[in-house]
Parts: sequence; C-alpha cells; structure tokens
Amino acid sequence: MTSHIASFTTASPQELAAALREARHYTLGLFDCFAAAGLDAAARVPQMRIVNPPLWELGHIAWFAEWFILREAASSHPADAVYNSLLTRGDELFDSNTVPHRSRWSLDLPATGALKTYCREVQDRVLDKLSREPNEDAALYPYRLALAHEDMHGEALLYTLQTLGLDAPPDLALGLPALASSQDIAFPGGTLQLGSAERGGFVFDNEKRAHPCHVAPFTMAASLVSNAQYADFVADGGYQNRQHWSAAGSAWLMQQERSAPRYWQRQDLQWRSVSHGRLSTLAAADPVRHVNLYEAQAYCAWAGRRLPTEAEWEYAALSGHAAFQWGHLWEWTASPFAPYPGFAADAYREYSEPWFMSHQVLRGASFATPARLHSAKFRNFYLPERDDVFAGLRTCAW
Ligand SMILES: [Fe+2]
Repeated sequence: MTSHIASFTTASPQELAAALREARHYTLGLFDCFAAAGLDAAARVPQMRIVNPPLWELGHIAWFAEWFILREAASSHPADAVYNSLLTRGDELFDSNTVPHRSRWSLDLPATGALKTYCREVQDRVLDKLSREPNEDAALYPYRLALAHEDMHGEALLYTLQTLGLDAPPDLALGLPALASSQDIAFPGGTLQLGSAERGGFVFDNEKRAHPCHVAPFTMAASLVSNAQYADFVADGGYQNRQHWSAAGSAWLMQQERSAPRYWQRQDLQWRSVSHGRLSTLAAADPVRHVNLYEAQAYCAWAGRRLPTEAEWEYAALSGHAAFQWGHLWEWTASPFAPYPGFAADAYREYSEPWFMSHQVLRGASFATPARLHSAKFRNFYLPERDDVFAGLRTCAW
C-alpha cells in the first residue's frame, strides 16, 4: 500500500486530502472483494464476534467522518453533534457505541448503492471543508482522527477477508519479507519517556501522557519468531504439553482442538498455510502469523524465553539499532492494556477506555497497516484469544 505522508499525526491539509482519498479508494476496493464473492448484502457474512457485516462497516466509516468533521461533534457522546446526519437514521444504524455488535446483522441497512452515495457525499463535503482549513493542529484534529479510523477499519476489512477465506484486492502484497536475522541484541536499559508528548500534531489518548519509565538491561531478538522456529515448537508437542500453557491458555486450548496455528494444515508431511482461502507451502523464514497471546506465551515457555514488555519494545524500536526490524506484523507484548498516568479519554471516548485490562498490548505494525500510521509509540490492543489478526511475536532472553 502506498502512502503520501510520513505520519498522519502531522499531515498538512493537502496531505490529509490525498491520504483520505487513498484510504477511501482502498476501503472501497476491500468492500468490493465481498461483493465479488457474492456477499454484498449486509447480513450475508456469518455472524462472528470478530467480524462486522461489510456493508455496516462501510456505512460506519462514513458516519464516523461525518460525525466528527461535518457535524462538528465535540465527543462521541450521542448529544454532542451540532448537525443532523445526511443519512436518514444514520445515528440509529452506524453509531458503534449504541448499535450492539450482535444486532448489526439484523439492521435494515440502506442498499449498497444508496450507502455508497452517502459515503461519496460525506467524502466530497469533508474534502471541501478541509480545503478551507488552516494548517493548525486543532482544526485538523477531526480529519486526522477520521483518517486513522478509516485506516484501522481497512486493516480489519482485510483480516475479515482472510477470516472468511475470501480473495484480497489483487494489487495488495500479502507476502512478508523474510526475516533478516534472529540474532539477539543486548540493550543497556535506562530511563525512557514512555508515551507521546502532547506537543504538535495528533496524539491518541492512550499514549498520553509521556512519562519516565525505567527499563532494566534486557536482551531481545532482532526480529520476530519465524515459521521454522514455531514449527519446532509444534513438532515437539508444543500444543499437547500443557506445562507450556498458562491457565487461561489451557482453557482456550481445550475449546479449540488446535495442534498448530489457526491457518496451518499438514499435507504430505509438510506444513502448508491458508491465505485468503488458498493453500501454499509455509515459508520457513517468514514470521509466524495468526498466533494469539496464549500461543505466543506457550512458545516462549517452551523456548525458555519471554515476551517483551511494551516499554522494552518501545525502547528497542527507538534505539536506532540497525538490526532491529519491525513492521511485518503486530507483536504481542507481556503488557496488559492499561492507562498511562494522567489518562483522560479524548473526543473519541470509546477508543481506549472500555478496553483497559481486558485487552493486551501489541506493538509495531502489520503489512496491512498504512505507513502513515507506523509509530514506535503506537499501542494496539486485542483480546488474548484473537488469532485472526495479523499478529506474531518476538522474544526476549530471561
Ligand atoms: Fe469504528
């Protein structure tokens, strides 16, 4: 995926306009993949906790941009929008805070054509309004927020396609660069300013506030665990030997009948993996992907290693060490998703706060994360059992 800007957090009005156009082009391309598979109606995807009906997701993306940009809402509180939605019943259908996930399959959504018209109308008005904005952080805040929101949903739409075994857009590179090195790097540790300073540009609420954090000396792998390394764990009975698994991990495993990662299949004495419904030989040097936190922890226990804390990860990523590689996959950390000292929810109030302590922090970025979102400070977070997302792991020595 190409990107016009280094970071969405400091993008100018012109750069934001180009990025918003690019993001929408990508979203519609993903949406059309569902249509190509005959799934364009709202309710035709199976009801699963880990996906949304694509038509609902498309409407929600446009509704979110309209809410914060055109309707000038001060927050995601239902009473905080200044203007009405362009779409009849827009709030009733597409506010993710008030429309329960399970109900999204049974909503009476507009037809695809009507919803695409709404998306286009919102986008046209957003770009028109943006062309008149000053290059100032306060004025650009809602545009940067809407862009990041659409980019995150773009990644979610791609892993939904993977979950359902459907084709990805034809021009999208799904292969990962092979891992360059599995060497360990010894970091001296010290005091890190964990989190982001609130000066200049857009900062997510969960990165606030920057605060000193002491990191003891640690030794971390320069890159992620490879398929070959993970296959050794599997071959050694990793999924059968419960001593490697946490109590929660064992409980998860008992419900799964899993003996290898979600998309691995054994065929002719070889491991193959399923990507978008197609089976191919597992590339030994690629990072292992689609493992959840429990699998990552069990691998570490077997290997005599541990997951990094998010502070160690941030320290390493900001160290400038030439061998430290990231950006292939999200990386599970040992850190539960918790607020930093002084946390206060921003305008998009449900972005972080409802997920504290139930979710686990992942750092880095995946191949499906636009470059403009890449940041060594970015805190992603998922439930421990999520193995459908583009996540892998990196280990530290004890
Ligand atoms: Fe959303």
